Amino acid sequence: MAIFTQQDQFHLQMDHSSYLFHVMANGELGQLYYGPLIHNQAQYPELTHREIHGAMPAWKLDTPDFQPEALKQEYASFGKGDFRDPAYQITASDGSRISELQYQSYRIENGKQRLANLPSTFDDSQDDAQTLVVTLKDAVTQVTVELNYTIFPHQDVLVRSATFSNQGEQTVTLNRALSGQLDLPDADYDFLQFSGSWARERHAIRTPLRRGIQSIGSLRSASSHQEDPGFILARPQTNDDQGSAYGFNLVYSGNFLDQIEVDQFDTTRVLLGINPTEFGWQLTAGAQFQTPEAILSYSDAGLNQLSQQMGACYQHHLVNPQYAQKPRPILINNWEGTYFDFNETKLIAMARQAKDLGIELFVLDDGWFGKRNDDTTSLGDWDVNPQKLPQGMAHLAQQIHDLGMQFGLWYEPEMISLASQLYRDHPDWVIKTPQRQMTPGRNQFVLDMTNPDVVDFLYAKMSAMIDDAHLDYIKWDMNRNITEAYSPTLSADQQLEFSHRYILGVYQLYARLTHDFPQVLFESCASGGGRFDLGMMYYAPQAWTSDDTDAIERLRIQFGTSYAYPQAMMGAHVSAVPNDQTGRITPIETRAAVAYFGDLGYELDVTRCSAAEKAQIKRQVAFYKHHRELFQQGTFYRLDNPFTGDRNVGSWLVVSADKRHAIAARYQILNQPNPRYSQLKLRGLLPSQRYVVSGRQQPLYGDELMHAGVFIPSLLQTTMGVEESADFSAQVLVLDAVDD
Ligand code: DGJ
Repeated sequence: MAIFTQQDQFHLQMDHSSYLFHVMANGELGQLYYGPLIHNQAQYPELTHREIHGAMPAWKLDTPDFQPEALKQEYASFGKGDFRDPAYQITASDGSRISELQYQSYRIENGKQRLANLPSTFDDSQDDAQTLVVTLKDAVTQVTVELNYTIFPHQDVLVRSATFSNQGEQTVTLNRALSGQLDLPDADYDFLQFSGSWARERHAIRTPLRRGIQSIGSLRSASSHQEDPGFILARPQTNDDQGSAYGFNLVYSGNFLDQIEVDQFDTTRVLLGINPTEFGWQLTAGAQFQTPEAILSYSDAGLNQLSQQMGACYQHHLVNPQYAQKPRPILINNWEGTYFDFNETKLIAMARQAKDLGIELFVLDDGWFGKRNDDTTSLGDWDVNPQKLPQGMAHLAQQIHDLGMQFGLWYEPEMISLASQLYRDHPDWVIKTPQRQMTPGRNQFVLDMTNPDVVDFLYAKMSAMIDDAHLDYIKWDMNRNITEAYSPTLSADQQLEFSHRYILGVYQLYARLTHDFPQVLFESCASGGGRFDLGMMYYAPQAWTSDDTDAIERLRIQFGTSYAYPQAMMGAHVSAVPNDQTGRITPIETRAAVAYFGDLGYELDVTRCSAAEKAQIKRQVAFYKHHRELFQQGTFYRLDNPFTGDRNVGSWLVVSADKRHAIAARYQILNQPNPRYSQLKLRGLLPSQRYVVSGRQQPLYGDELMHAGVFIPSLLQTTMGVEESADFSAQVLVLDAVDD
């Protein structure tokens, strides 16, 4: 598999997919094909054919068939006859907005370098990645654009970005600079988006494409709880097991736009990148602008395959290699157990009990600093609250370490409370617009991360604590979005750079800390899943998936999340009942059975658990440790979709790389009277291998398990009397290959 170039044509071949584009007659780039692998040819006349359409501008008088609007473009401009939304737009110093990006040259490099100031993919493992850089230039503004393409052939993933350079003498403005574009020849697709809200993130929604523009995005200065940058275009008949689909995502954590435009010819234009609303960039003479990376992937073997290949790419080429395969510790977090009400004695008692249950990492959440006893105060004062921890953080950490546990700490670095010393010292560090009221959110405000002094201050505070307390783990929270976006560090004509520069400041702090303290595992969090994205994943290998710890809600959240992200990224905790977000009472076995399929943790006061609950937790922890690699790194298959049908059942499965071990779980939300017969059909097993299945007498062949399925008993034996609720049930099946 390789990148082929001939006669100004570029063919990017991956193991199972091909991506083709060429230099068109007008010197700009045109898209030719993206789909299943095809042979390389010197020319593709069937893909470059043109016809004359009525009532549409053409490039020149003598090329009436060269009508930009009827052509598939590779990185489209606006204003020269293509009336669809463009991938980029440049305003020249005279206010004109036409660009003609003419093909100049290309180069091919083996491997993939990291981007300088942005999270990005890489190829440290020499996994046959190749990078193609195509240079284009606009003769009038003297702006060059390098379109960067990297293929990760074995995961069938293509990564795109654009680098703008101003080689002229006048400043130009980038009005939009998207990361990727894909023009597809028809519109017979369903749009799968993963949308939600706080505490119900990434619910899977599937709708057919229709004429016009459909988009999702964020203007919250974070990727958001509401919309996820990842999305899929799937043929209507495609499901988890079969059919073709394109997956897209962005390695970015700020404002984004995912847009699909179905035009008059029912062709589809996909655009993705930084949201052009609230964006504008002054590109001064000699300056460069690098877009974030867009991820594209194609599968003709169903949505499970698509998720698996994209997830594998992130594990190999995006997550810090030090953590990608490393077992993630089972943690206890004190937040739902104590909220702000704790002291050292209480924390040590929780840690001791947790240790006894087999838990490996103690995470101290919000409330350890300043005078913070509720959420009205002290953000920014990152010094220990002496009332709660009179002997300091290092002392607490030492005691936890002495128990043989790791120690982690919560921060919300980007935030500030008005009731804080930091605000008294630096009122100018808060994001606000002059002469406008500041809009509060959770009683707090946001620090101006475009200001290098702010980044330096946070680095100094956090690094000193890491050194002092020997932190093993940091949970990096972010609990409100930006309002009144503006920075005194930027000139008036640069204010539209603010949102992107803010996130660059966040990345810079992450980059400095992860570089200087590689032993610290970072978990990203934003009121749960408000910044759950590939940009964060580059620095923080795991993320708090949602503030909602209710098992039933989590079933849907984790199921939806699994389309775009691997399970090792999903922090998943068992909490107390009634659940704090829903009031629902679910069995502790069901809570664990959902949390197993991620990075397991506990988030309750274990000192108040009954003896029976402690025994159950101990068993769960031991079970998870035994199967940790399978749960965190196994190949994940979605089985029953809890967003379809009567939304009452969900199930999934993880399979080991050698396919000899697997664990499936089936969840039933409400029990049903006199239920219908149900079977769970597994996937990904070796057809001719026999497996011992937990709770079943006789070993079963892989083909039987996949095609005939496992019988799921669900009939209540009411004549014997019912002692406890049969709602919210989970069945976990462990499969181990057995050789005769
Ligand atoms: C929101 C997070 O998602 C919670 O887990 C917890 O850390 C709180 N913030 C603390 O304020």
